[in-house]
Amino acid sequence: MTQPHQQRSGPQSDAGMRATGSQTDVGDRASRWEERYASVERLWSGRPNDWLPELATDWEPGTALEIGCGEGADVLWLAEHGWQVTGLDLSATAVGRLNREAERRGVASRATGVVHDVGDGLPEGSFDLVTSFYVHGGPEEGSLDLVALLSDAAAHVAPGGRLLTAVHAVNPPWHTHHARTYTADELVVGLAGETAGWEVVVAEERRRQVTGPDGQEGWRADAVVCLRRPQPPSS
Ligand SMILES: C[S@@+](CC[C@H](N)C(=O)[O-])C[C@H]1O[C@@H](n2cnc3c(N)ncnc32)[C@H](O)[C@@H]1O
Repeated sequence: MTQPHQQRSGPQSDAGMRATGSQTDVGDRASRWEERYASVERLWSGRPNDWLPELATDWEPGTALEIGCGEGADVLWLAEHGWQVTGLDLSATAVGRLNREAERRGVASRATGVVHDVGDGLPEGSFDLVTSFYVHGGPEEGSLDLVALLSDAAAHVAPGGRLLTAVHAVNPPWHTHHARTYTADELVVGLAGETAGWEVVVAEERRRQVTGPDGQEGWRADAVVCLRRPQPPSS
């Protein structure tokens, strides 16, 4: 994910949303993230996740949906590269930061942050790119089901469009919040029903050096998956 900063909008109608997960702890989930964002001036570094510029720089821009966008570094990167992007996140504080930064950078007409729980489903319509970075769900009862969410995301990818996601595959020892980990294969297999016949552009664990809260060196591996929906055959 975009690294934590230093050391350590308006609401959208839910019309047309489809449910992808249990809603038992929605309030808790939302308030946990909201508290986390509200407790600091900025939670993440403001830089896009590595995988996005690495993979998407040469892609033809179009419409994009960013799921769990946080403060919106990836949304802003896409907008600055010509995409028309909607970012969705639970936290009003994070979404407010995204929308203010989009104004400040002069890309507000291409970048919109919306407060929305994706457990309630995704917006209607299809997108040339759907992304989600480090929205894991957790082991606890009622938490977001990532494979269900990404399957729903795949259903919103336009012909010729892409689904791009990265989540943690192996965490360093100091990682204390126990979000679930996934391998790339696990995601590809989990998505097979919705993405049969799609091109597997990337499906791998990518390892990178990270520094812990006390300056300790370690590494983390991310499962990075990019799948591309084929164009329908021309008649
Ligand atoms: C680990 S952060 C990652 C943020 C950003 N994607 C990044 O890579 O920096 C996970 C984000 O997902 C959001 N999130 C978690 N569950 C969500 C849900 N059900 N609906 C919308 N956003 C959610 C959180 O508010 C948080 O901003």
